[in-house]
Amino acid sequence: MAIILAIESSCDDTSAAVLRDDHLLSNVIASQKVHEQYGGVVPELASRAHQQNIIPVVDAAIRQAGIDKSEIDAVGFTRGPGLLGSLLVGVSFAKSFATALGKPLIEVNHLQAHVLSHFIDRGEPKPQFPFICLLVSGGHTQILLLKDYFDIECLGTTIDDAAGEAIDKAAKIMDLGYPGGPVIDRLAKEGNPDAYTFATPHIAGYDYSFSGIKTSFLYFLRDRLKEDPEFIEHHKADLCASIQKTIVSFLLKKTERAALDHRIRQIAIAGGVSANSFLRSELQRICQKHHWQAFIPPFQFCTDNAAMVGIAAYFKYLKGEFADISLPPYTRGGKN
Ligand code: KG4
Ligand code: ZN
Repeated sequence: MAIILAIESSCDDTSAAVLRDDHLLSNVIASQKVHEQYGGVVPELASRAHQQNIIPVVDAAIRQAGIDKSEIDAVGFTRGPGLLGSLLVGVSFAKSFATALGKPLIEVNHLQAHVLSHFIDRGEPKPQFPFICLLVSGGHTQILLLKDYFDIECLGTTIDDAAGEAIDKAAKIMDLGYPGGPVIDRLAKEGNPDAYTFATPHIAGYDYSFSGIKTSFLYFLRDRLKEDPEFIEHHKADLCASIQKTIVSFLLKKTERAALDHRIRQIAIAGGVSANSFLRSELQRICQKHHWQAFIPPFQFCTDNAAMVGIAAYFKYLKGEFADISLPPYTRGGKN
């Protein structure tokens, strides 16, 4: 039996979680509202907010878990990728806390954590290896083939913007606020997804590109606004539904192709965009069509959280993979 304290601070959410083996005892998330007025995450403000949030968040996670800090067996932390100033707060805190407790440290890759969130015990079936996971967040878009917990092959990735970034930019063009993903999701429910079509680029293999979709959306609106300055206001729901459908269909078309080519019959989704209701229902539909199994995370594990860091740390704990206190954070790539 192991009790893991996990810390996540890679972007603009400060989070701490406590797990007993693969069972979640607490998962506290402090989201930073300060970025909304700037239309995106401001790194300097993010690291300052992490500094303010980290102690109360960890304290709440330990209290809600109903444990004493002396019971913690290891401290897991997100080492990267992410924003340096944000990562430094969580990494430094984890190192100090583990040292004070005299317990080992476990470094976790943020992207692996998103994917491994499917293994947090919920009393429901978990994916069996090998399976495919579409990882879609504000910073990443990847089709991953999981052969084991830490044996992950990247089949495809975006060559420019991430899917979440494209959705957020489309929302920004329509002046819907930041982050725009949840707003587009909500407004799209009232709209017609076939009202407008936006071209998706032809990219080889399982790779993606999203910068062109954003540009064609921008030019389309610019032309329409010349004829009707109220065009966005009058057609907001249809615009949201149509751009959402364009992006989701593009994501799932390549994922479906990858599963067929690799004869995989289980597909998972992970990352912030996996909270999208159209992506969730379309994945279900495609999996039903092929008699495949779909694995859709609960909402609290879609966007950034420490529970996913905790489960990844737990699997490393079982392997005895501990981190040295001198390890620096890393900002890019899928190291580990
Ligand atoms: O995983 P995440 O919290 O942070 C990163 O690691 O990037 O993902 C954040 C992204 C943002 O782009 C946000 O707009 C998007 O996830 N997102 C959504 C929804 N909820 C969050 N996109 C579409 N529909 C949603 N319901
Ligand atoms: Zn993330």
